[in-house]
Amino acid sequence: MTKKRIPTVEIKNLKKSFFVGKEEIPVLKGLDFTIDFGEFVVILGPSGCGKSTLLNTILGLEQPTEGQVLIRGKEVYSMDEDGRASFRRQKFGMVYQQPNWIRSLNVIENVAFPLHVSGTHHQTAMSKAKNILYLFKFDKFEKYYPMELSGGQQQKLSVCRALITNPWIIMADEPTGNLDTVTAEDLMYDLKVLNAESKRTVIMVTHNPEYERYATKLIYMEDGLIKNIKQKSKPLISSEEEERVVDLAEGEGIV
Ligand SMILES: Nc1ncnc2c1ncn2[C@@H]1O[C@H](COP(=O)(O)OP(=O)(O)O)[C@@H](O)[C@H]1O
Ligand SMILES: [Mg+2]
Repeated sequence: MTKKRIPTVEIKNLKKSFFVGKEEIPVLKGLDFTIDFGEFVVILGPSGCGKSTLLNTILGLEQPTEGQVLIRGKEVYSMDEDGRASFRRQKFGMVYQQPNWIRSLNVIENVAFPLHVSGTHHQTAMSKAKNILYLFKFDKFEKYYPMELSGGQQQKLSVCRALITNPWIIMADEPTGNLDTVTAEDLMYDLKVLNAESKRTVIMVTHNPEYERYATKLIYMEDGLIKNIKQKSKPLISSEEEERVVDLAEGEGIV
């Protein structure tokens, strides 16, 4: 008998309002969907429809007004803030539009940085960082400082750093926003490699329909609601592969 697999992300009746003074501003108005392991999810929708709020809610950064977020069955908001922060560091890697590396550290030190935060031994952290730079053919830049890199190279640095903790899920909020078309394609290619070869689930937000073709699942949002969900293909990941990636994230394995 095959074991029923738990969704990697499960969103149930998710509502989020912001309060400005006494005025309630509903931003997410009741969302329901699931994401399976190994999917490449592209969330599309016009500016202001709630995409970043949704990502932040999944990341445990925005307490929902109503509803639930479950990550592989774990209810995110049943944890306290510290619990959510360490869960987030372990399970998620993040790539943003605005780079958030540290200027005084070189490329390899920046990639290793999240491991230093979590107390990993320096040599272990550096050798993991080296592996990832190698995987993305970026090792020749290891001694460069971020300001010496082009915009595309800076985003490659962000992708490498997002992977260092062996997360299950890579979250990317408008990652191509500041890039020219050719460089943006390179970044999308890196995300696809990460999805297809490293078997990470990718959740990406964009307002550019150009990137629909990378998705296994498309989620269209409009005004705080889901307008449509299209399952374009099913990620072909066995439960053994899923367990392997999950174990890597729990332990000290390399990519
Ligand atoms: N902290 C906040 N306080 C009040 N309103 C907010 C806050 N964050 C986002 N909003 C509002 O929620 C709506 C959705 O924002 P956002 O999730 O950033 O949309 P998107 O990422 O799709 O552009 C916008 O109208 C925005 O002004
Ligand atoms: Mg946004």
